Amino acid sequence: MQNKATDLFSSWAKKGKDEGMAEAHSPAVNKILDRILVGRESDFDFIDAGCGNGWVVRKVNSNPLCKKACGVDGAQSMIENARAIDPAGEYHLADLLTWKPKNKAEIIFSMEVFYYFENPDILTKHIVDNWMKDGGTLIIGLDHYIGNPDSYSWSEDLNVHMTLKNEQDWIQIFENAGLSNCESFKVNVSDKFAGTLVIKGDLNP
Ligand SMILES: C[S@@+](CC[C@H](N)C(=O)[O-])C[C@H]1O[C@@H](n2cnc3c(N)ncnc32)[C@H](O)[C@@H]1O
Repeated sequence: MQNKATDLFSSWAKKGKDEGMAEAHSPAVNKILDRILVGRESDFDFIDAGCGNGWVVRKVNSNPLCKKACGVDGAQSMIENARAIDPAGEYHLADLLTWKPKNKAEIIFSMEVFYYFENPDILTKHIVDNWMKDGGTLIIGLDHYIGNPDSYSWSEDLNVHMTLKNEQDWIQIFENAGLSNCESFKVNVSDKFAGTLVIKGDLNP
């Protein structure tokens, strides 16, 4: 029997491992955020899908063009940590597959989350239909993908379900969900790392 991803990450958050994860993800996240925020002129709302302890929400909230950033995560201790650090922030404890925001947002972001779902297609469609404003952008970062062999054992190592797909499969998922201008690129490629795969798409641009 596999562990639920949200149970695993809740136990990590209780042990303080959320901070190490934020530190490990931040070089890639900084580049992903630059891609959508540098040169941007219009203001925006922002939702982080699978926000962990909410570090990206707090970072984006400090951008002058950000009207409101909020985060959603299904791991209770992750959300408790987020609220403890930032009591005034908006952090929702919920399953991404069922949660819907009161107001749709221009930017939906997610780092290292979509492959924990058995059907990332269903999650993507749910987000496109219920979270995104017309003209908005969905952008996600993934380290577990076909093309990064170091990640192939993670599901077995952690005894958690992970869906292993390649770059083209992920683009297809975005297109099938109704997104346009779908593209992929990698950040932080080096001799030792195949890079974080980034998938991006726009709704009714
Ligand atoms: C690898 S962590 C990444 C956290 C954060 N994005 C970061 O970069 O620090 C994956 C996160 O996805 C969340 N998650 C996984 N499945 C989920 C689900 N079905 N609903 C809500 N959150 C989920 C986990 O609880 C965990 O916090």
